[in-house]
Amino acid sequence: MKPGMSLIKHYLQFKDFRAEEYVYLFERAATIKKRFKNYEKYTPLVDRTLAMIFEKASTRTRVSFEAGMYQMGGSVVHLTAGDSQFGRAEPIEDAARVISRMVDIVMIRTFEQSKIETFAAHSRVPVINGLTNEYHPCQILADVFTYIEQRGSIQGKVVAWVGDGNNMANTWLQAADILGFTLHVSTPSGYEIDRQLVGINNPACVKTFKSPFAACEGAHLVTTDVWTSMGYEAENAERQKVFADWCVDAQMMQLAQKDALFMHCLPAHRGEEVSAEVIDGPQSAVWDEAENRMHVQKALMEFLLLGRIG
Ligand code: CP
Ligand code: NVA
Repeated sequence: MKPGMSLIKHYLQFKDFRAEEYVYLFERAATIKKRFKNYEKYTPLVDRTLAMIFEKASTRTRVSFEAGMYQMGGSVVHLTAGDSQFGRAEPIEDAARVISRMVDIVMIRTFEQSKIETFAAHSRVPVINGLTNEYHPCQILADVFTYIEQRGSIQGKVVAWVGDGNNMANTWLQAADILGFTLHVSTPSGYEIDRQLVGINNPACVKTFKSPFAACEGAHLVTTDVWTSMGYEAENAERQKVFADWCVDAQMMQLAQKDALFMHCLPAHRGEEVSAEVIDGPQSAVWDEAENRMHVQKALMEFLLLGRIG
């Protein structure tokens, strides 16, 4: 992309895209997935390079972006805090200026959202949020895609969030607002979603419940995440006590709709935030969710680099 271009599109939080852009992306991801499953070669990103910067650990995000980029004909540069100047406090602005002169698109997994915002503000190329303390938009992109694939439109449905008011919960709330479903949230007290941070325009898209069982009643999708996210490890012992009642189990799933799905972004801790019976049971969509990261992110990279196709 040329210097000074003002029309760079980034994907830093779920609310960066409008509902109609999601309609396009979900359809496009379905097409890309179908062609991939049919072994059709599709390489629109030949000669394009993705830089992936990881300041936190990852399995799914790394594999899905890296495999997806190669499948589309491009190549990947992988940086971590330990093997780059990121761990040695080079100013983010400088890193963004340099990296974005050499690659076509950047994915970053880091701590504060402000770091990725700063990087994007100084980047000549699109930047994708691969998880921050505040948001995980690529995961919710995959989760909603998975819901639509298996159950149809998510509009008007109820999604139950059980557990920590973390990056996943924040992103689900933005998605509820944009895509028109209701989020039932149950978190222990002191771990609520920060609605001001999330910037929700429509308070009707969220209902809070003290009891995780009440939150699951009538839900079309029940979802949770680890009690202790990356970066919060020092709080782990305390969280183990506080979150003990926020474990998605068969009893909670029974309160949801009969055909409700269970989702978890993974990695999971069986016996903590979810019972083995639920995550390994028939309502669990977690493996499809994980695979779909790759398909939706291929659609996302194509959209950010080439715009709408067809
Ligand atoms: N769900 C997810 O982002 O997984 P990783 O931490 O393995 O990338
Ligand atoms: N909330 C978790 C998600 C991991 C994919 C974390 O931030 O560690």
